[in-house]
Amino acid sequence: MKSISLEQRPLKTKILGVLGFFEPSTRTKLSFEAAGRHLGIDWLDLKPQDLSLQKGESFQDTFKNIAQYGVKFFVIRHSASYFPHLVHEWTGLPVLNAGDGMNEHPTQALGDAMTLFQTFKGKAKICFIGDAFRSRVARSSLRLFQVMGHSVSLVDDGRDKKISEENKAFAHAFGIPVIPRSKISSCDLVYCLRSQKERGSVGSQNPLNSGDLGKTTKLMHAAPVIWGEDMLVEIQNLSPDRNLILLQAENCFRVRTRLLKQIGEAKTR
Ligand code: CP
Repeated sequence: MKSISLEQRPLKTKILGVLGFFEPSTRTKLSFEAAGRHLGIDWLDLKPQDLSLQKGESFQDTFKNIAQYGVKFFVIRHSASYFPHLVHEWTGLPVLNAGDGMNEHPTQALGDAMTLFQTFKGKAKICFIGDAFRSRVARSSLRLFQVMGHSVSLVDDGRDKKISEENKAFAHAFGIPVIPRSKISSCDLVYCLRSQKERGSVGSQNPLNSGDLGKTTKLMHAAPVIWGEDMLVEIQNLSPDRNLILLQAENCFRVRTRLLKQIGEAKTR
């Protein structure tokens, strides 16, 4: 048997993943990184400023080269919809979508679905408020809530004609009703969306406040919360059984841990 040189002898079996975040992220990036470290995954951190893209290299060549370094999968966030799908096409490796433009945020949706499972025994009446039109969280989580059989609607307060038009188009695409702000109080849960300035939000409705909520209405938000724009800070005083934001963060971490475990155990090449 041909012996391998000392230099080539592996220290121990390791799984190497690549974190490629081309948009800012706190929760998604660090929860993937933490989950991976707990499982023993090693990460390459693909920082946009370190790439040879600045010299004129294409994304395709960049990813094809990185795929030669014994990496097993990618976790990708990008401002362009379907960019993670391209990375899979270029490399043939598994890619976890950590948020692509206005399109999808699947691991957020799975964490949110888990939060609903833990919180409601049966079907819930859920409304979304905020810039749903530009929100990948709305596209992924809302769709999953519908699949789970919950009743979903979109709030419009009629303050801004352009926002109302966008809300109407979004609601039509998802087959959900648009409801006035006064109806939030009759919902079991309000899901407040972040103002999407980086994607050209055209303005905002009045921030969600305690007066909008019914006595038992619960609250979700994928965070980061823009206090004073998305919601008034007084909402922080909701009891933990009604304010589900940190539970969402915990569940997203659990979902990501589970997905990494599955990828780590799968035979991919
Ligand atoms: N919810 C979410 O995606 O947060 P980050 O942008 O901080 O990752």
